[in-house]
Amino acid sequence: MTKLWGGRFSGDVDPLMDRLNQSIAFDARLWEADIRGSQAWAQALVEAGVLSPEESQQIIAGLDRVYDEWARGDFRVQPGDEDIHTAIERRLTEIIGPLGGKLHTGRSRNDQVATDLRLYLLDAADTLESHLSHLQRALVEQAQHTIDLIMPGYTHLQPAQPVRFAQWLLSYFWMLQRDWTRLEDLRRRVDVMPLGAGALAGTPLAIDRMALAERLGFSHISMNSMDAVSDRDFVAEFLFWAALLGVHLSRLSEDLILFSNPALGFVRLSDAYTTGSSLMPQKKNPDAFELARGKSGRLIGHLTGFLSTLKGLPATYNKDLQEDKEPLFDTIDTLETLLPVITGAIRTLSPQPERMRAALDDFMLATDLADWLVARGIPFRQSHHIVGEVVQLAESRGCALRDLDLADLQSVHTAFTADALEVWDFERSVEQRAAAGGVARSAVEQQIHSARHLLGLGTASS
Ligand code: ARG
Repeated sequence: MTKLWGGRFSGDVDPLMDRLNQSIAFDARLWEADIRGSQAWAQALVEAGVLSPEESQQIIAGLDRVYDEWARGDFRVQPGDEDIHTAIERRLTEIIGPLGGKLHTGRSRNDQVATDLRLYLLDAADTLESHLSHLQRALVEQAQHTIDLIMPGYTHLQPAQPVRFAQWLLSYFWMLQRDWTRLEDLRRRVDVMPLGAGALAGTPLAIDRMALAERLGFSHISMNSMDAVSDRDFVAEFLFWAALLGVHLSRLSEDLILFSNPALGFVRLSDAYTTGSSLMPQKKNPDAFELARGKSGRLIGHLTGFLSTLKGLPATYNKDLQEDKEPLFDTIDTLETLLPVITGAIRTLSPQPERMRAALDDFMLATDLADWLVARGIPFRQSHHIVGEVVQLAESRGCALRDLDLADLQSVHTAFTADALEVWDFERSVEQRAAAGGVARSAVEQQIHSARHLLGLGTASS
């Protein structure tokens, strides 16, 4: 079987070595990017005087046929097709004859594969960005529908203060908004064309690389041929982006696994995103969220694994770089599967207002009582201490805070008057927090307004 690089070799390659070396099993998905890159290169070769316009046309038409074969699913990979680049060139030559052999003039698989991978990732980023926006939208819409609901907010996983359920939902909207902008930002560094860097030293052909970049839809060209073929920062950066997004999805999931547990019961998950147990008939398991939590480990693994691949590499292209693809593709596939499922699970979850209400407890209003004292001129440190004593009194009697009457409060501190008893109201508590970013209805509505604006949606009508 003839190799692209076979000229100087006389012995055969060990079949196991072949198997180790082959990337076609996982890089075949670059076919579209590879053909796009090659067609643009065939045009550049006319300007460089390597191909006549007719030859270039023949090559481009031949590549169109190869494209159709891939698109129809009847491209047949041959045993000697080491990678996607080899496979496409082999097939092109079968179709148009020896002229196919001119396509690779002035180019190397090193600048070719880096170009393909960037094109591929730019497309994938579009898809992921849209999945991410759908999830953000689901969060915002749930927040709109549930803005009345008040539930316990937690710190240290201990009941802390009452919050709107919508505030919890929107906290994840903002997390994901940072992911969205981070992806936009890193996309600028993917959007750089390495083609024309050759193997490492540039191309001897007179090629207008900027024009070539524009033809391929890139905004920039690489400035240094050695950097161009060795740079996989964009892969590492994308893997980090995905790992952090994974961490966010995992935390969202962990919350919902807790909230949907019958012990809390704040939400019910739709049957569409849960499974049962083969043994225990009563079980309804939050698998979608467990899988999100689990997959985040895999995404972190891809990042750390690939950084380890990069760290010891000497300058320019090394075959180690072929290891960029599996983590990258698996990361894309994982998120493309996961994001729509999480979106569906958020869209279909049903909040349980009574359970949220039942979990609210007066102790979560202790801070409000301290704030009441502060409003009467008592320094916060002292107020905190006074309310601590009030809490102790209720605990010693085994009663709720609201069961203490005015005389009880005054036994702790004389500053208490009858309207202090008005703080035992969860709605009042959240409405006190109306500064921007707080849990008062107006502040939450303001967030929903901003969030909808960022998503390009109209003004809320709920
Ligand atoms: N399959 C290779 C990769 O994915 C293509 C580049 C190979 N270049 C080379 N000089 N062997 O990295």
